[in-house]
Order: sequence, then structure tokens, then C-alpha cells
Amino acid sequence: MEISFKTASLPKSGIAVLSVYKGGALGALGRQLDKDLGGALTRALKAKNFKGGAGKVMEVLAPAGAGLDRVVVAGLGDPRKVTAVSVEDAAANAFASLSTGLGRDATFLFERVAGVKLGANELAVHAAFGATLRSYKFDKYKTKKLPKNGKTGKKDKEGTALTFGCASKPTADRLWARLSAVADGVFLARDLVNEPANHLHPEEFARRCKALSKLGVKVQVLGEEQMRKLGMGALLGVGQGSEFESQLAIMQWTGDTDSAGKPASDPLAFIGKGLCFDAGGISIKPAGGMEDMKGDMGGAAAVTGLMHTLAKRNARVNVVGVVALSENMLGTGAQRPGDVVTSMSGQTIAVLNTDAEGRLVLSDAMWYTQQKFKPRFMVDLATLTGAIIIGLGHEHAGLFTNSDELAKGLTAAGEAVDEAVWRLPLNDAYDKLIDSKIADMQNIGGRGAGSITAAQFLQRFTNGVPWAHLDIAGMAWRPSPKPTVHSWGTGYGVKLLDRFISDGYEKRGRAPARKTAKKMAKKTAKRKAPKRKAAKKAAKRRR
Ligand code: BES
Ligand code: MN
Ligand code: ZN
Repeated sequence: MEISFKTASLPKSGIAVLSVYKGGALGALGRQLDKDLGGALTRALKAKNFKGGAGKVMEVLAPAGAGLDRVVVAGLGDPRKVTAVSVEDAAANAFASLSTGLGRDATFLFERVAGVKLGANELAVHAAFGATLRSYKFDKYKTKKLPKNGKTGKKDKEGTALTFGCASKPTADRLWARLSAVADGVFLARDLVNEPANHLHPEEFARRCKALSKLGVKVQVLGEEQMRKLGMGALLGVGQGSEFESQLAIMQWTGDTDSAGKPASDPLAFIGKGLCFDAGGISIKPAGGMEDMKGDMGGAAAVTGLMHTLAKRNARVNVVGVVALSENMLGTGAQRPGDVVTSMSGQTIAVLNTDAEGRLVLSDAMWYTQQKFKPRFMVDLATLTGAIIIGLGHEHAGLFTNSDELAKGLTAAGEAVDEAVWRLPLNDAYDKLIDSKIADMQNIGGRGAGSITAAQFLQRFTNGVPWAHLDIAGMAWRPSPKPTVHSWGTGYGVKLLDRFISDGYEKRGRAPARKTAKKMAKKTAKRKAPKRKAAKKAAKRRR
């Protein structure tokens, strides 16, 4: 899809998408168009009893007088209640209505009226953002691209051009450069979550992480041998029953450097649970709904999408993203309930339920991150517990943290970008529930407080570093769509973390001229291909 910005004016042909506010109020261009159409627009609004409610859409077909094929009106509701998110939703819905006809090229004119707090350029770019998010499709496994609209089916899909009327093109272009980088990251995360587990195993996921080196992200991937040397017994135990090797992918974006090109600040760390499939292991899951467990890498997808976004928009901040990639399967090699593993931290864990595997892979990933990078803080994202869906449904991620500052920043960012979080408690009484009779801890608590005991488990691997855990089990995919999320995989977390970083931790202003992105890309391209996988594993896979 092609997005462009242009000083707002009425188009002479094609489709015009117009904002309408509460009570049917039009902006200046809307009123001009209504005049050109001899009042047909306001008559149509009346005839349909269209009141401009937020997110509502109505179409007027081929009105005589202005040369337009269609006028689509997008309701924005009460001007005083307009937010970036409500604009995105309205534009998403309007975009969806475009595909009901032939040709979808359109000019969006989201106009300011009295009371609207967003500027004209902000209206334009958030409309573009909403339409873009709605345009996402995951159809790579459809072999029959049935063009609903006759001959133009294919072009319709790939060649749609949307123009957004703005106040100043240079300003809108600059704002859009940022938001389109966010959309790219969201799309990457959605792709990863939607991808079936027979196509996206840990090594393939790691390859997709490596692809970020093109953007200047430094990417390193540890295989099982290296992780064994580091003592990551908890992470390795999880992948033991899988024919695929577990991987730890480490992505570094260094956007805050001094004049000598050295990092000017300690990094922020984001860690993702990356279970490419979670069958539960020997504590096997029930068959119904198990297919959803291809999405059990939603945390890792969010972290990877975030790294893409930060690099793409050249963020002035240092961030490390670590994703723990594994597959929780059954087999003669799989770990058993009751096994005791030793984590990289040295703490031992009795694995009472092999389906509580997310905390196991995260424990080693978090310990490693904290030891290796001395981050300012760590935030982990994980589709960790079914219990969080019972508690919060699909409206909030669960937030657990030892830092009020992180709680504040994440909550505010979540609200701003419509990826909400809700804080839940941590304390010693809950922590006791995972003490073990035979090891330092066990990987499950009792029946109650399942999401909290999971978080307590993770806290034992923070080593006192400020940390927040987001349980996104209810958020990484959606059973029902919303305006800007029509795909199963949501890409949840990319918008949230991008905003959290830019509001709280990023240097302002333009980055000093840096060669980093291009130079680093060259450097990584030159670097030798990683060591070949263990021959045994490779042979096994060929069978
Ligand atoms: N990946 C699941 C959690 C999950 C469930 C995510 C449903 C999304 C939808 C996790 O690994 C898991 O199996 N958790 C167990 C923990 C239990 C054994 C203590 C759960 O929630 O049942
Ligand atoms: Mn599980
Ligand atoms: Zn899981």
C-alpha cells in the first residue's frame, strides 16, 4: 500500500474519505464538497440518520456534481474526545469499507473542527496509521487469490494508494516516518505470531532476527552448545523433547552514542518468551485449542518487532532485545515432571509441570541479560499463563513489577496507544508458594494466583535489577477483531514499548550524524556465517 501526504484539498476523482463529527458536523472542505454536490452530502447524512458517532462509516455512491466515485464519511464523534487512537480506529473502519468496491485509491480528509486537540498533521498521520494497521493480511498460505473485484483483484491488494490531506507536507512526512516504522514492527510481530510452527521453528525465528542486521541491529544467536556452556539448564530442559534446537537470539540497537561512536548510556533490556510451539510437554495440553500454541512466541515477536521499529526510526536510545526460542514437545528425550534442573543463576528448579515452561526459558534469558548487559532495567513479555486470561480477558496485559516507575511508564504508554496493562501484586506470601521440598524452587504454585506465582518465579532471576513482567497470554492473539487488528496475531507490545521508550528514555532532537546503520550493516554482512548446527540434529531433521 502506498501512503502519501498532501496539503488538504478536495480530490477531483476517485474516493474521498471525509471526517464527520458528532451531530453530523463537517469541516471546511466537507462543507465545500457538500456545496459542490448541491447539498447531497448533508441530505444523505440525514437520510441515513448518520450522526458522526466515533468509528461509524457511511458511503455515498457516485454523487453527481464533483466527479467522485464515492464519498465515504468517517465518524469521529465528540471533537473534544478525539484521540490518536479514536482517529486510527475511524480511519481503519473507513479503509475497510473501501474494499467493498472496485478500486480503492482514496483521499482521506480528516479535518480539524473546534474542540479537537490533535493538530491537522497529527490527524492525518494517525489516520494513515489506522488504515495501514487495518490493511495487514496474512495470506501467504492461500494459493488461490480469488479477486473479489474481477480483473483488478491483484492490483487492488498491492497497489492501493492512499493520500492524506494535511496542513504541512514536510511535517506530516516527518511524523509518518516514525509511525510507519511502528507499523512495520507491528507487522513483523504479527507475521511471527501468525506463522505456523512447522514453518517457524526456533532456528527460523532466529534467522528472522538476524535479518534485522540490515537495519543496523547487531544480532547474535546462541545455539544449544553455547547455552550448555553457559549453564542454561532451565532453558535447555524445555527444548529437550523437540527435534529442533533451542536458540537464544540477542539483538542490540545502539542509537545513543558519544562522539567516538561508543554507547553513551546503559541499555534498556527487553526479553521475550519464544515458544514456537507449546504442546505442554509430558504434562500435555488438551487437544482443543492446542493449535493456538503456535502463538506462544508472542513475547519474542513483540521484542523482535520493537527492535525493528527502533532501528527503522533511528531511535536515540540503547536497547538490547533477547528472545528465548524453544519448542515444548513430547518424546523420549523430553523432560519429565519431577526432574530437577540447574539454571544459569545456579538456582535449582523442580519441574513439577512441564507445561509451566515459559518461566523456565525466561529464567535463563533474564539471568543472562542482566549479567551480560547490566541493563538499566529489564522488561519481559510472555504468553505466560492461562490464568491471566481468566482474570483480565483480552483487554489488559498483566503487569508485575518491582518498580513503581516502570509501572507508571508502562501504564501511561499502554493507555496512549490502546495496548493497556493492569498491575497485579507481588509479595513474599506469594513467593513462598513456589518453594520446593527438594530444590530451590518449583515451577508451579498451587491452584490459586497462577499468574502471580509465575511472576514470583521470574522475580527470583532479576538479581535485584528493576524489572517488569507483562503477561500477554490474552493479548498476543485475538479471538475477535478490533478496528486496527483484523489478524489473529495482534503484534501486541510493539506500539506499547515503542511509546514507553520514546516517552521515558529517549534523547530528544535529531541524532548526531551517524554512520552506524549503514556501516554496521556492511560489517555484519561481511561476518562469517554462524557455525553449522550439530550434525546429529540436522540428520534427525531430515528424516
Ligand atoms: N503458554 C501457556 C499459557 C497460555 C495459555 C497462553 C493459554 C495463552 C493461552 C503456558 O506455557 C502454560 O501452559 N501455562 C500453564 C501454567 C500451569 C501449568 C501452571 C497454564 O496456564 O495452564
Ligand atoms: Mn505451557
Ligand atoms: Zn507456554
